[in-house]
Amino acid sequence: MAKVKTVRREPGEVLIEMKDICKTYVMGEEVVKANDGINLVIRMGEFVSIVGKSGSGKSTLMNIIGALDVPTSGQYLLGGEDVGDMTQNELADIRNRMIGFVFQQYNLLPRLSILENVELPLLYAKVSSSERRERAMKQLERVGLQDKCQNRPNQLSGGQQQRVSIARALAGNPAILLADEPTGALDSRTSGQILRFFKELNEEGNTIVMITHDNSIALQAKRVVRITDGKINFDGPAAEYAEVIRAGQLAEARPAAAGKLAEVGRPEETGRPEEAGKPEEVGRTEEAGRTEETVRPEEVG
Ligand SMILES: Nc1ncnc2c1ncn2[C@@H]1O[C@H](COP(=O)(O)OP(=O)(O)OP(=O)(O)O)[C@@H](O)[C@H]1O
Ligand SMILES: [Mg+2]
Repeated sequence: MAKVKTVRREPGEVLIEMKDICKTYVMGEEVVKANDGINLVIRMGEFVSIVGKSGSGKSTLMNIIGALDVPTSGQYLLGGEDVGDMTQNELADIRNRMIGFVFQQYNLLPRLSILENVELPLLYAKVSSSERRERAMKQLERVGLQDKCQNRPNQLSGGQQQRVSIARALAGNPAILLADEPTGALDSRTSGQILRFFKELNEEGNTIVMITHDNSIALQAKRVVRITDGKINFDGPAAEYAEVIRAGQLAEARPAAAGKLAEVGRPEETGRPEEAGKPEEVGRTEEAGRTEETVRPEEVG
C-alpha cells in the first residue's frame, strides 16, 4: 500500500505532468503506437478537453491519466507521484485519492439506490457510514437530485444518471474530474446542461479533464488538447482552437497540416514524427488489457 500523502490543492499547482509518454500495443505482427510521445502539463483549476478522432489514442491517454494503466515508456507524475512503477494496489490508491471518473455510460450499479451509488467511492476510502451518507447527500443536492436519492438508476433519465455519476465522482473530493465522452449518450439539450454544470464546477475551482471526439464539445472547455495518431498536434486556449478549425487547418495528421498546427499550438508539445516506428519502445504489452474493472466494481453490492 502506498503511504498516504496529503495532497496540496492550490490553484496553479501541477497535477498532471507527462514527459514523452508512449503506449504501444502489439497485435501479432502489428505494432500500434496508441500514444506516441505525449508531453502534457495540467494544473489545478484548469478545464481541459482532449479531442481527437476515433482511434487517435484518447482512451489510451485517459487510462494513463486516470492511473488505470501505465505507459510503455516516458514519465507520468500524478500529483507529483511517479505512476510508472506503481503496483496495482498503489495505482488503485492514487486513483482513489486523485481522480473522479465520469464515463459515457454512467456505470451506475443497477441494484443500488442513487445514494448508495454516490457513497461507493467513500466506502472504498473507508469513510464511516454516517459521514458517507452526509457527504453523498451533499453531492446529490449539488447536482439537484436529492429527491431521487432512494430511486434506482433505471428510474432516472440519462441526464439525471450522468448527474449522479458526477456526484459520485465528486464525493471522493478528487483533485481531478476525468470524464470520458460524458455527453456521448445524451441528446443535445441534456448534453448542454451537463457541459454547463462542468463549467460551474470548474468556476468553483474543480479541475476537469474531458475526453471527446466532438470539436463543438471540446470548445466548451477553456483549453483544448488535440490528439492525432497518438500525438498532440494542438494545445492551446479554446478560442485559438476555434480559429484553427475555422481556418480549416485541421485536415488531420498529414504532415503539412501538422506543420500549420504547430504554429498555433505549442510547437514543443507536438509529436515527434521522426521517432515513429521505433520497435525498441515496445514493452509491457501484457498490460495492454484494459483495467477499468478496477474502478467499476460491479461485483460489490
Ligand atoms: N488493448 C488494446 N490492444 C491493442 N490495440 C489497442 C488497444 N487499445 C487501443 N488500441 C489501439 O490503439 C489505438 C488508439 O485507441 P484508443 O482506444 O485510445 O482510441 P480513441 O481515440 O479512444 O478512439 P474512440 O474515439 O473510438 O474511442 C487504436 O488504433 C486502437 O485500435
Ligand atoms: Mg475511446
